[in-house]
Amino acid sequence: MNGTGKTFYITTPIYYPSDKLHIGHSYCTVATDVMARYKRMQGFDVMFLTGTDEHGQKIELKAQAAGVTPKQYVDNVVAGIQQLWKMLNISNDRFIRTTDDYHVESVQKIFKTLYDKGYIYKGSYKGKYCTPCESFWTESQLKDGKCPDCGRDVIDAEEEAYFFKLSAFSDRLVQYYEKHPRFMEPQSRLNEMVNNFIKPGLEDLCVSRTSFTWGIPVTFDTKHVVYVWVDALSNYITALGYGNEKYHDFEKYWPADVHFVGKEIMRFHTIIWPAMLMALDLPLPQKVYGHGWLLLEGGKMSKSKGNVVDPVVLIQRYGVDAIRYFLLREFPFGSDGLFSNEGLINRINADLANDLGNLVSRSVAMVDKYFGGTLPSERKGEPLDEEVLSIARSLLEKYETQMENYAFQNGLIEVFKLISRTNKYIDETAPWVLAKDEANNPRLASVLYNLLECVRICGILLTPFMPETVRKIFEQIGADDAITTYESAGTFGLLPQNAVIHKGDSLFPRIDVAKELADLEASKQAPKEEEKEAQPAAVQGVASLITIDDFAKVHLRVAKVVACEPVPKADKLLKLQLDDGTKAGRQVVSGIHPWYEPDALVGKKIIVVANLKPAKLRGVESNGMILAADAGENDVKVIFVDDSVPCGSTVR
Ligand code: MSP
Repeated sequence: MNGTGKTFYITTPIYYPSDKLHIGHSYCTVATDVMARYKRMQGFDVMFLTGTDEHGQKIELKAQAAGVTPKQYVDNVVAGIQQLWKMLNISNDRFIRTTDDYHVESVQKIFKTLYDKGYIYKGSYKGKYCTPCESFWTESQLKDGKCPDCGRDVIDAEEEAYFFKLSAFSDRLVQYYEKHPRFMEPQSRLNEMVNNFIKPGLEDLCVSRTSFTWGIPVTFDTKHVVYVWVDALSNYITALGYGNEKYHDFEKYWPADVHFVGKEIMRFHTIIWPAMLMALDLPLPQKVYGHGWLLLEGGKMSKSKGNVVDPVVLIQRYGVDAIRYFLLREFPFGSDGLFSNEGLINRINADLANDLGNLVSRSVAMVDKYFGGTLPSERKGEPLDEEVLSIARSLLEKYETQMENYAFQNGLIEVFKLISRTNKYIDETAPWVLAKDEANNPRLASVLYNLLECVRICGILLTPFMPETVRKIFEQIGADDAITTYESAGTFGLLPQNAVIHKGDSLFPRIDVAKELADLEASKQAPKEEEKEAQPAAVQGVASLITIDDFAKVHLRVAKVVACEPVPKADKLLKLQLDDGTKAGRQVVSGIHPWYEPDALVGKKIIVVANLKPAKLRGVESNGMILAADAGENDVKVIFVDDSVPCGSTVR
């Protein structure tokens, strides 16, 4: 068991190989990688697991559509996922595929054990059934009462199925949460789980299917395949060798120290998974951390919205470390964050090119220029140095406090406080003035040594986030392995007195924001017309010039909002009834709910694109789009028109 305190087992969710992974998926994997590297640096024996969740009807259907077998289909996509993790410098120790033989064998044993212990029983699954799709749906999954996949009618149906006695675990789960108050993080997730799922009453869970075959067969009833979540969750123990002979690390690493998961799959990890483990008499993971989502201005990234951000494009343009840094610096790990190209570029310019890059290049360049690359050993410290030195000396402790709480953003903020303070120290000490008189050499050497030491300490603590960059920094300041260990970040003054530097290339060249944004916008793949969803007008970016004739094609009209309400089950969408000067009026759906409550819009006059092709958004008809301005990083403002302008007036 994980009792020595020296092992650390951390996991990402295993990803569905159904589509290309986007920057949102990369977010969780990068965070896990940073934590794994941090723990390794601290001396832990780390097991970092990631992988792919390859079974289920969705994959089966995709493979059919592609004219290949499910295995051929997943093999192809999984290779791409592994390639992406390589590009992102992900240091996972193991990669599990749920189609791996050893995993299949273990899941079959787990299912049988639960059955033998009486936690799994045979029953029948009642629901809505779409015959052409061979799919069961619950009432709430239906779209306008029809099959959400094909839109056809569904019928009431019953299917023989196995059930897991989840309902029997409510009390034990609540007791466990009470005894382990830090089991779920951030803490807000605990209330969500208890209030939304446990309090209303847990129902037994259907854990087998007979309507498709792409899954792990139940050994004692082979027309059933194991429910994908039971299959998937088990990966965390099968990958250590539980129930198989492929690996033998279960005793060593289980229970996991932390599962990192996106917030929407928190309930599988904090209710179903613990109940399964309790039923198997196994200890529970120490912690499940439910991180937030990366959102775009139009809402969550999705292929159908055509707003998927491709990590490969960003890595190729800005380098892997800039992307890794940005993901963890820009967004607090437990909350949702709004991704934008502008935010990314500004962050790279401000923090990496200006603050970090400049500090390293100025420090190294001055040692080169004033002392030919080798510092003399004679020194002269001054009281002015004290503040910087004390920040540097206390940095490790502050950083560690944040990192132990999975507060990556705050950990980085601490490091960058020292970087900024050190840059200010350069201005305060003005080495170029000292360099005018050789008598100042001991003082000048002191100042430059302090700069190199601050760079060394920051470098160590940035290692988990930007391993490649830090390697270059250490080369430039001549810091070898012995003085770049984690502990050595706690001591100031470890570089040799006669430190020798090696000038290198600039770490992060400054990016031309306007040019990059235009390039990125132009390289975006437009979604297919039928795949589009409503977005606030602000995100319909301007990519290129249009003629006056093009503009004349757009009919803009003034309209008054006469009624407004949220679209059910769509966080971002509002349904607006407009008086546009016509008898019938018009209905528009707009993704502005994050910024406006319905009451704030009723009675206001706005501008509507009147000749936009009608579209259905979450099943609600939208005839046009209202204009809004991108008013800041996460702010959208609707364009209101003076009340004296009559409804229906043309805007041109
Ligand atoms: N296969 C399941 C997980 C099984 S774990 C036993 C699954 N796969 S997934 O590919 O759909 O998602 C994997 C992870 O990516 C989830 O944690 C999910 O929250 C995360 N993300 C997907 N889109 C995301 C964002 N836009 N932002 C942040 N994380 C996102 O769920």
